[in-house]
Amino acid sequence: MPDEKIITFRIRRFDPESDSAPHWESYAVSVFEGMTVLEALHKIKEEQAPTLAWRSSCRMGVCGSCGMFVNQFPQLACQTQVLHLRSDTISIEPLPNYPNVKDLVPDLQPLFEKHTQVKPFIICLDDIKEMENPSGEFLQTPEEREAFSQFTYCIKCGLCLAACPTVATDPRFLGPQALTQAYRYSADNRDGGVQNRLDSVDAFHGAYQCHMAGACSHACPKGVDPALAIQLLKRALILDHFGFRKKETQTAAVLPLADVVKELEAFAPPPRTVK
Ligand code: FES
Repeated sequence: MPDEKIITFRIRRFDPESDSAPHWESYAVSVFEGMTVLEALHKIKEEQAPTLAWRSSCRMGVCGSCGMFVNQFPQLACQTQVLHLRSDTISIEPLPNYPNVKDLVPDLQPLFEKHTQVKPFIICLDDIKEMENPSGEFLQTPEEREAFSQFTYCIKCGLCLAACPTVATDPRFLGPQALTQAYRYSADNRDGGVQNRLDSVDAFHGAYQCHMAGACSHACPKGVDPALAIQLLKRALILDHFGFRKKETQTAAVLPLADVVKELEAFAPPPRTVK
C-alpha cells in the first residue's frame, strides 16, 4: 500500500500470572494514513503478540473502554490516529492512577465507585409521592436543559482521572468525573438532591480538593470540561450553604399526562390531505 510508514510501538506488558514486574516490548508496524492506535494494536496482536491484552468495543469513541496512556497522554485508542502523533516511536501504557489488570487493561472500579458515591440520578426530595408514583412528565424547557447539557456527554472512559494530578496524590479524591456528574444532576431543574450529595461532595476528598490544574478538561475526548463543572459545583455548594436553594418549582413542573398530550397536539402540524 502506498504511503505506508514503519512505526515502532513500545508497549508496557504485564501478566500478573507470569511476570513479577511490568516490562517493555517493541513491535514494528507498517502504518497507513488514517490508521488508529486501536487498529495498530489489532495488527500487533494478529502478527506478533497474540497474548497482548487491552479493552475496546465500539471503535468509534462511544463506549469509553479503550482509554490508554499513549505517548504519555491519556487518549482513546480508537480515536487517535497513529500518524497524527508525529512520532516514529510510540509508547503505550495502561492508564495511570488505576490498578493494572493486565498489559493495557486498567481496573476502572475506582471510577465507577466514585461515580456511584455522588448519587448520579434525579432526586425529588420535595415531592417523594410524585417521585415514587409519577402522575405525569417532568417538563423542561430547552434553556433549562442547556444549563447542564454539556456535562451529560460523559462516556465514563476514565481519562480525566488518569490525567488528574490530584488523583495521583490523593487516590480518595472523588475526581473530575464524579464531581462533574454531581454538578450535572444538581444543576438539573428537576432535581432537589444537592443536600443528599453533600456527604461525598462537600467533604475532605470532595470538590474543594480540586487544585484547578485543568488536565481533566484537556484529556476529555467529549469536550465535557470537568474543570468548569467543578468550579460551578463549588459555587452551587456555597449558595446552598447560605440558603439559596433551588425553588420548589422543580416538581411543580410536573403536568398530568393528559395535559402534556393536549400541549403536544396544539403544536402538531395540521393533517395532510392526499388529493
Ligand atoms: S472502543 Fe469504544 S471508545 Fe474506543
